[in-house]
Amino acid sequence: MGDGVGAEITPAMLKVVDAAVEKCYSGSKKIDWKEVLAGEKAFNTQGTYLPDETLEAFQTYKIGIKGPLTTPVGGGMRSLNVTLRQTLDLYVCQRPVRWFKGVDSPVKHPERVDMVVFRENTEDIYAGIEWAAGTPEAQKVFDFLHTEMGVNKVRFPETSAFGIKPVSKEGTERLVRAACLYALENNLPTVTLVHKGNIMKFTEGGFKKWGYELAEREFADALQHGKLKINDCIADAFLQNALLKPEAYSVIATLNLNGDYVSDMLAAQVGGIGIAPGANINYLTNTAIFEATHGTAPDIAGQNIANPCSIILSAVMMLEFLGWKEAAECINKALETSFESGFATNDLARFMNNGKPLGTKEFADKLVELIQV
Ligand code: NAI
Repeated sequence: MGDGVGAEITPAMLKVVDAAVEKCYSGSKKIDWKEVLAGEKAFNTQGTYLPDETLEAFQTYKIGIKGPLTTPVGGGMRSLNVTLRQTLDLYVCQRPVRWFKGVDSPVKHPERVDMVVFRENTEDIYAGIEWAAGTPEAQKVFDFLHTEMGVNKVRFPETSAFGIKPVSKEGTERLVRAACLYALENNLPTVTLVHKGNIMKFTEGGFKKWGYELAEREFADALQHGKLKINDCIADAFLQNALLKPEAYSVIATLNLNGDYVSDMLAAQVGGIGIAPGANINYLTNTAIFEATHGTAPDIAGQNIANPCSIILSAVMMLEFLGWKEAAECINKALETSFESGFATNDLARFMNNGKPLGTKEFADKLVELIQV
């Protein structure tokens, strides 16, 4: 369910998904939902934020969808989401970005944005290998760099914090492979490697080099026959280009930190920062957790005003991952029709010319109605 608004948006999502599956498969397919606990509900009933049974359930059943979770303050883990990603080695953070007609956007042509971001989820400066300034550990790292590695470029050694940025060939290859396969399966024209290899030559530069080599080795046929194109773009140029000529891009493969920035900027471009869906996937074990990308929104929880679109669109991704494309399409269509007619939760409806604000529950009912016609 998730914490905070999770208790409202998750039931809304379940209702919409069940209606779409029923409509498309008339009972021949059905999702047997199983609730597992994490976050506050787990803590209050079991004394732990992430019970072993929850991790085991993901390992056994492979596919899950989750509402937002409160990050425990002062607990033993940095974040439940990060722990889930690391424990299950969910190495792709996938974020599709498209515009829905009717949704307010800060750019002139949001309809030109249609991309899927593959963000590496396990490496990079995000790995959390860092030491605070002024600690003995930071001093030790500096001493090692200075005396053993001959590094004399640390400008203010006494007051520097240090972080390590691991980027591996293996980690790059599995990410870029997933992006290329996705592009081929979905008939998307290009995979763009977004990196900062001009400056960070071995880490981000390695990502670019290994990415190209992998594509040329494993997708030679597709490249030769024009079924797949691979190119690259330096991260800062990509941020400009994505605003100026977004139609030039379809699948983006990038490192963890770039991916974080890129995903949110693209989501903002289509007015969807609050409704952007996401998934964390391991394509080798076929384990995937689909998720609402926003937080628990404690300021609006319990008021029936939260927008359930992030988790609903994540469910669309889940249905696509399962190969249930008809049901996914059916929900997308219902959302398109709803937004075009101005039906949305207030956070979106207030910016629509024909906006008709609905509560969380009523919006879900509207989608079900549109699915059933
Ligand atoms: P937040 O995303 O919960 O809220 C930021 C703003 O967006 C608030 O004004 C909120 O009302 C609004 N908002 C968020 N979701 C909305 C929705 N569905 N409909 C309408 N408005 C919505 O971020 P915040 O306040 O920084 O974090 C609150 C808690 O959530 C923290 O414990 C944080 O650690 C956790 N969090 C969890 C995430 C996850 O589980 N994936 C992601 C981000 C934060």
